[in-house]
Amino acid sequence: MRRPMVAGNWKMHGSRAVNQGLLEELQSRVSEAWPIDVAVCPPFVYLTEVMRQLEGDLIAVGAQNVSAEAPGAFTGEVAAAMLADIGCTLVIVGHSERRRLYGEDDTLVARKFVAAQTAGLTPILCVGETLEERDAGQTEGVVARQLDAVLRTSGAKALGKAILAYEPVWAIGTGRNATPAQAQAVHQFLRSRISAQDAKIAAQLRILYGGSVKAANAAELFANPDVDGGLIGGASLNADEFQRICAAAAAPAVAGARR
Ligand code: 13P
Repeated sequence: MRRPMVAGNWKMHGSRAVNQGLLEELQSRVSEAWPIDVAVCPPFVYLTEVMRQLEGDLIAVGAQNVSAEAPGAFTGEVAAAMLADIGCTLVIVGHSERRRLYGEDDTLVARKFVAAQTAGLTPILCVGETLEERDAGQTEGVVARQLDAVLRTSGAKALGKAILAYEPVWAIGTGRNATPAQAQAVHQFLRSRISAQDAKIAAQLRILYGGSVKAANAAELFANPDVDGGLIGGASLNADEFQRICAAAAAPAVAGARR
């Protein structure tokens, strides 16, 4: 029913030469027979070149950020319409690095979500708590607040053309992933919160887990009923790791359970 997805967030990494080598390796390893969606999200400046290299390939391309504004006088920003114009189909909104390091609040993230969908892009909406918030027992409150900002602005139906990603801040780039049980608990909470507004949309929505996913822990994370794949940072920069994570998502026990 829900097709698993594995998306690589390259963050601010890469070069023309490195990207080309990584993609060549990926193209030879990512199998068309896998019943999953695979995507990579390079920095803005490489989007066009990456898309050219992946033309006709099954790997989709997304951006890591987008402006909430329509095209206009916003120096340094990139409009959703521009991403759509170059053939980009996905965009990450509300990544914790954007929220934390660049002051993006729930309202701005909700506006970016709208801008992305208005341009025909599929937003990958990220939510997640800090370690302090988890330790204080606030995990559900925080992810609910982040999700509700989008639900209020766009409505539950809008999630029919979106992807949700649970990325606990304390698990990002730390080597300390959420346990499968911790991930499942939050994914289930998010899905049931959406289900209260629209059960059909909630049942169809893909919720990815992100935060120190690697080949060694992907299978046990993806085996959870509400974990529909992963948003992968560091491990997406290594073709062998990334393809093994994709293979874990494509394993019959994972993919089959969602058909
Ligand atoms: P890591 O996989 O490097 O922990 O990063 C996760 C992430 O932030 C993906 O968006």
